[in-house]
Amino acid sequence: MNRPAMEGLRLNVPAYVKHQRLVAWVAEIAALTEAAEVYWCDGSEAEYDRLCAQLVAAGTMKKLNPELRPNSYLATSDPSDVARVEDRTFICSEQKEDAGPTNNWMAPAEMRALLQTGETALFRGAMKGRTLYVVPFSMGPLGSHISHIGVELTDSAYVAISMRVMTRMGRAVLDLLGEDGAYVPCVHTVGAPLQAGQKDVAWPCNKTKYIVHYPETREIWSYGSGYGGNALLGKKCFALRIASTMGRDQGWLAEHMLILGVTSPKGRKYHVAAAFPSACGKTNFSMLVPPAGYDGWKVTTIGDDIAWIKPHADGRLYAINPEAGYFGVAPGTNYKTNPNCMDSLKRDVVFTNVALTDDGDVWWEGMTDEPPAHLIDWQGKDWTPVIAKETGAKAAHPNARFTVASTNNPVLDPDWDNAAGVPIDAFIFGGRRSTTVPLITEARNWTEGVYMAATMGSETTAAAAGQQGVVRRDPFAMLPFCGYNMAEHFAHWLDTGAKLQAQGATLPRIYCANWFRKGADGKFVWPGYGENMRVLEWMLGRIEGQAGGDDNVFGVSPRYEDLRWDGLSFSREQFASVIGIDKAAWQQELALHAELFKQLEHRLPAALPATMAKIEQRLAA
Ligand code: GTP
Ligand code: SPV
Ligand code: MN
Repeated sequence: MNRPAMEGLRLNVPAYVKHQRLVAWVAEIAALTEAAEVYWCDGSEAEYDRLCAQLVAAGTMKKLNPELRPNSYLATSDPSDVARVEDRTFICSEQKEDAGPTNNWMAPAEMRALLQTGETALFRGAMKGRTLYVVPFSMGPLGSHISHIGVELTDSAYVAISMRVMTRMGRAVLDLLGEDGAYVPCVHTVGAPLQAGQKDVAWPCNKTKYIVHYPETREIWSYGSGYGGNALLGKKCFALRIASTMGRDQGWLAEHMLILGVTSPKGRKYHVAAAFPSACGKTNFSMLVPPAGYDGWKVTTIGDDIAWIKPHADGRLYAINPEAGYFGVAPGTNYKTNPNCMDSLKRDVVFTNVALTDDGDVWWEGMTDEPPAHLIDWQGKDWTPVIAKETGAKAAHPNARFTVASTNNPVLDPDWDNAAGVPIDAFIFGGRRSTTVPLITEARNWTEGVYMAATMGSETTAAAAGQQGVVRRDPFAMLPFCGYNMAEHFAHWLDTGAKLQAQGATLPRIYCANWFRKGADGKFVWPGYGENMRVLEWMLGRIEGQAGGDDNVFGVSPRYEDLRWDGLSFSREQFASVIGIDKAAWQQELALHAELFKQLEHRLPAALPATMAKIEQRLAA
């Protein structure tokens, strides 16, 4: 430890902190990073307001007009720091094969030298001139046997306030940790030390970025970005990458899934968990408003992004949402397609990279049919519809987001905070595919469902830096989020199903969905959003043994007459164009499945290529 730096620094440990190992670790990181000050977050509203005011003074955020958007802020990032950075994300297991071929890997010792221990290690002096915030948080309800605790040390006040919205954060977590409780250590710096007298910028960050996970010692180190999944370490880093390895070791699942409750007019309630890749419709589906003609149906949100799922003694799989807020995509959100989301955003929101209206409110592409006559865009420039037409400039960044507490959601499920979780009746896996993949297909058995999930493809979106609209395999919507070998993740799912079946349990049904098929005009054919209720109703009908369907090459899909069409004009021809299987396209698709299996061959469960062989036979028939 760096003695002189430590002696000069007061750790400001509150009297209620009893955890000596935690205090020692904070001291060690403060010394390494040469933070100017240490502040322990208590999670109070007063603290939140104070940090927000500080962020406003620093120019990171603007306070929105309190009459139009009470208690809300607009943060605008550096234009280079707007999304997750998958090529800078690392799984540092001792053995490369344990990270698997789909993850970036570096040996832990080598990475530690680069970040912590080497003479020019990046974290050395990285917090100079900045405050180190100690952010204790619980993923899942406080004290639940399903929950896990983390402590994030960060030099970003924006991260500290965002963590208060997204997790259960503050003093109560430290009380729970007691003298020796277990926590996942998470270290984060924006990587922009300030020399004495140096003026800060509005959004400090570094061109060099490292988002690093040590799955065996369960640690997270993040360098250089202040944005979302790179910096709010409870979310993708902990609740998916680290938690997925915990789940593999302990017999549960951490998945990139929304969780919803759906109640039929007869009062029967089901729970559905759905894995769609980033920016492919999870938040929207979790807040779905059933269309006209669906009187008595109700959809309620348990979670919009992450599910922790555990087998229970009753033979069912129970899911909790480890988060406490939504970090959702703003563009495309409006009162027609997602009124519940719009109502959630009426107050108490931190918006990031949306546009500012002249009266101090926010706007983004797709919010209203008519854009305002003038805006300040997410990069602080004047924006008008004319400028947009000429230059193509977007008012909001395509990955602009809102951060808001779950409790703002008018359709929040009463069980969203239930420590026991909710029993899952169906899983859906769905990518963004303009061709090939049908609207909905039911797997005939668990293995066929795992095959669907494993081979899922999706067009890339603005949620991650890099090229957009390119089809890639995104198994289980977990390609960027699985903390271990993806082939083993497939095996873990197959095992989980086999174990429950051996106990005589009825497993959840598995479905493959695609809301995004396009017509010759390049437009989505399926109306989506609330109309997805029709598909959901069919799925529940299947579970109840009442809805019909036809076998196709990889499962069972509804015929036109198997869906309810009241209140929607959607012709047989239109339906055929979203449900049909094109043999030639599927032959090409299977070649891509084969490519994935080749990449993952070392630990690939034999059941998957065997399932593929059956699909090939049916295609050839
Ligand atoms: P992440 O927060 O990145 O995980 O995204 P998400 O999966 O929660 O996606 P979200 O619901 O925020 O939707 C992303 C984009 O897809 C938005 O622009 C939505 O308007 C659009 N979208 C969502 N559902 C549908 C749908 O059913 N049909 C169509 N055509 N677009 C949809
Ligand atoms: C996603 O990309 O899936 C998100 C946004 O939910 S982030 O938190 O940046 O990962
Ligand atoms: Mn997500």
